[in-house]
Amino acid sequence: MSQSEQDRQKIEAARAALRMVNNGDVVGLGTGSTATHFVKLLGERVKEGLQVRGIPTSVDTKTLATNLGIPLTTFEEVQMIDVTVDGADEFDPRLNLIKGGGGALLREKIVASASRQMVVVADGSKRVEKLGRFHVPIEVIVFAQELILAKLAAIGAKAQLRVVDGSPFRTDEGNHILDCDFGLIDDPAALARTLSDMPGIVEHGLFIRMASIVLVADANGVIEVRPESPTKE
Ligand code: A5P
Repeated sequence: MSQSEQDRQKIEAARAALRMVNNGDVVGLGTGSTATHFVKLLGERVKEGLQVRGIPTSVDTKTLATNLGIPLTTFEEVQMIDVTVDGADEFDPRLNLIKGGGGALLREKIVASASRQMVVVADGSKRVEKLGRFHVPIEVIVFAQELILAKLAAIGAKAQLRVVDGSPFRTDEGNHILDCDFGLIDDPAALARTLSDMPGIVEHGLFIRMASIVLVADANGVIEVRPESPTKE
């Protein structure tokens, strides 16, 4: 898919998500290029009179939303978000996700976990049968990094420290990211549990049963994908 077609699909998916937002909603604002399109479109609606309060999933999204005049709130004021709209790096038929390509997975997962509905917006390249072609981002405390690298190697993962402009990438919380190749993942829920059980991992980019719906664009338009029921647990 060409870059311009991919961008067009991202915008279409983001536009489709506007209909999931109602007047008065608290809206989780995702991070990444597709979510950015959504935030910009939401900003236009706010200018037209839509009343919402946003909870951003990153410093970048907070800055963007503030510049667009979208009113913001925090977990001090509200503990339940009506709908979150965010992107994904991959989604499978059960709507399990890999997220964190933009490094905001920790706040993204917290916001998604506090949401009545998590709406994922994606271009067609994000749809896969099995997760794992995209490397799973894992946010680690710097103190524990070498320990976690050894533990990941022991379970067969190839992990690489994320480096940007010659320096380790720092998340909004000041942690590092390890991008991990597990191959194609047969059981994402089991892998997610294994990772969650490693002290020093702050969060990982496997989002299991968190998405309510994916709005995925392709050359013909936007399709709503809902989770396929599991064949076994
Ligand atoms: C940000 O940390 C990510 O989880 C993004 O949602 C994900 O990487 C998708 O980004 P794009 O919309 O830019 O593809």
